[in-house]
Amino acid sequence: MTLRPLSLRTKLILSFLIVIIIGGVLSLSFGSRLVKNTIIDQAQAKVEHDLAAAWMVFNEQLSDIKEIVGLTAAREALQEDIISQRFQLLEKKLSRVRQDYGLDILTLTDSKGKVIIRTRNPGVVGDDQSQDEIVSLVPKKDGLAYPQIISREELLKEGEDLANQADMEFIDTPKAAFRPEKKETSGFMLKAASSVRAENGTLVGILYGGILLNRNYEIVDRVKEIVYKGEQYKGRDKGTATIFQQDLRISTNVKNENGERAIGTRVSKEVNEAVLVEGKPWIDRAFVVNDWYITAYEPIKNINDRIIGILYVGMLEKPYIDITERVMMTFTIMAILSVILLFVILYFATTKITNPLKKMVIATQVISKGDLAHRVKVNSKDEIGYLAESFNRMTVNLKTANEKLIEWGKTLEKKVEERTIELREMQAHLIQSEKLASLGKLAAGIAHEINNPLGGILIYSNLILEDIGGKSPYYENLKKIVKETSRCKNIVRGLLEFARPKEPEASLINITEVVDSALAIVESQTLFQNIKIKKAYASDLPKIVADGAQLQQVFMNIILNAAEAMDGDGRLTLSTSLNEDGSYIEAQFSDTGHGIKEEDKKRLFEPFFSTKDVGKGTGLGLAISYSIIQKHNGTIEVDSQIGKGSTFTVRLPVIQEKGHE
Ligand SMILES: Nc1ncnc2c1ncn2[C@@H]1O[C@H](COP(=O)(O)OP(=O)(O)O)[C@@H](O)[C@H]1O
Ligand SMILES: [Mg+2]
Repeated sequence: MTLRPLSLRTKLILSFLIVIIIGGVLSLSFGSRLVKNTIIDQAQAKVEHDLAAAWMVFNEQLSDIKEIVGLTAAREALQEDIISQRFQLLEKKLSRVRQDYGLDILTLTDSKGKVIIRTRNPGVVGDDQSQDEIVSLVPKKDGLAYPQIISREELLKEGEDLANQADMEFIDTPKAAFRPEKKETSGFMLKAASSVRAENGTLVGILYGGILLNRNYEIVDRVKEIVYKGEQYKGRDKGTATIFQQDLRISTNVKNENGERAIGTRVSKEVNEAVLVEGKPWIDRAFVVNDWYITAYEPIKNINDRIIGILYVGMLEKPYIDITERVMMTFTIMAILSVILLFVILYFATTKITNPLKKMVIATQVISKGDLAHRVKVNSKDEIGYLAESFNRMTVNLKTANEKLIEWGKTLEKKVEERTIELREMQAHLIQSEKLASLGKLAAGIAHEINNPLGGILIYSNLILEDIGGKSPYYENLKKIVKETSRCKNIVRGLLEFARPKEPEASLINITEVVDSALAIVESQTLFQNIKIKKAYASDLPKIVADGAQLQQVFMNIILNAAEAMDGDGRLTLSTSLNEDGSYIEAQFSDTGHGIKEEDKKRLFEPFFSTKDVGKGTGLGLAISYSIIQKHNGTIEVDSQIGKGSTFTVRLPVIQEKGHE
């Protein structure tokens, strides 16, 4: 599977989102921990505070007992009754006190600790309480009140019902520490003792009273009432309090699954270890009976400073966890909403960036297809705007360069065409020259052979003509022979001139003078009577190095041809000039004659090419002219239009010689 490359926008959005999501998750997890810690810490602090309140209730109860016992013991009547041994009356009075103040026991001993009156169980008296932890201290120290573990044996003396109230089977508690026993038979009592003294201060008896806490829920319920005001959470008590005898719940408002007080269950091993063994308070969450609580446990100590139980308060953890969760939920929802909001913002923000880029990409595609007139329309005044601007500038330059290139291409084509034409002309010229040269050789051979016999014929026929005189009947015929022979001789001479032209005898000449002299020679002929001559000579022409006689012959030829082409009626224009850069001189002859056919133009300079009647033209004039001009390194050209006239142009190089510029 190949992945499509991500677009710029996706990359931008993704990278932003990744940063935000990572940041969000981190702050969420830190935040949640912080929130949880703060809330739980606060709850914990509150529980600690609640434990202090529970201690107040607990100690209040203890001091209440102490006060009742103390005040009762201090009554004047009591010592009198003891001294006077009014035991029946005493028992009545003390029972009344016990019932009025809600004490479980109220017992009187003599000064030695032997029980005289047991208000709860009057039948059992005479036993010795002097070894009791608290009672034993009374003679030295008065007004003692302490929690105390009371054995079943002792409880039975105070009343069988009390022993039964304390008797408690252990209920299996999974997290509790192991104990070999299966039940608890002793009781946990808040007990106070006071001395009864005669007026002179001698000890006459000891009064002790107390409340058994096993299955007595007054303290724990008062704590719940005072501290938690009976608050509930989802049908359950939010706050709880417990009194443990060792690790056993003997008084509690923590409920079990059936909604009953969870007495008989035991504290978890951890708490047991910390509080009962090490004597330290436990302030933490703890699993209590069947749920998690935020708890505080502290040891309860007896008069000998031995740990005999635990006072506990705890709050259901659930409400706090729920608050934390609600807060976290709010956080999470806010975070998700922010991410969505951010995504939307990013989406539009990146559009601002990517849209101009897209435009640019499209523009490059359009331009690469050849439309150089295309422009990117981006107006933003930022980096992208500048980019678009440079891009457009680049396109303009590209367009100009392209146009120049096309133009150059065209010029090049034209140049190539021109050069090709020139080359073709040159080639034609070359062929012409070669052709002329071979023709010349042939002609020269023949002319040479014929020239001598012709000379003989001419000499002898002239001699005969002189001899016979004008009266002879052969005279006219002989004269014709002489005339035709002279004509032959002229042709042959012309041929020889063409074939073996004389080397030009170079001298400094003025071309205008040569043209003019050529005209002067032929002008007198009748052929020129009706021809208008126009002269357009340039003044100050540089002199050239050439054979004046030969050039004169060439110009005469051209002028005569022109006159013949005009049939003696028309206009002949002669001009001389220097070309632009002064490298050659031009002599031009324009007539208004019949012109030259296209196919004849090519053959004009061939020897014997003539369109004139037999006897009139030899066809050698231009052939000879051509070879003379060639010898002078010049050119001869024709331009002609049928019915309008022809122009012959002779060009001769100007040889720059010192002193002759
Ligand atoms: N000015 C001109 N106008 C028209 N045709 C011309 C002109 N000059 C030369 N010709 C043509 O060139 C041919 C060759 O000329 P040339 O060599 O002088 O021989 P010729 O004059 O004896 O015919 C002429 O027969 C004529 O057809
Ligand atoms: Mg001629």
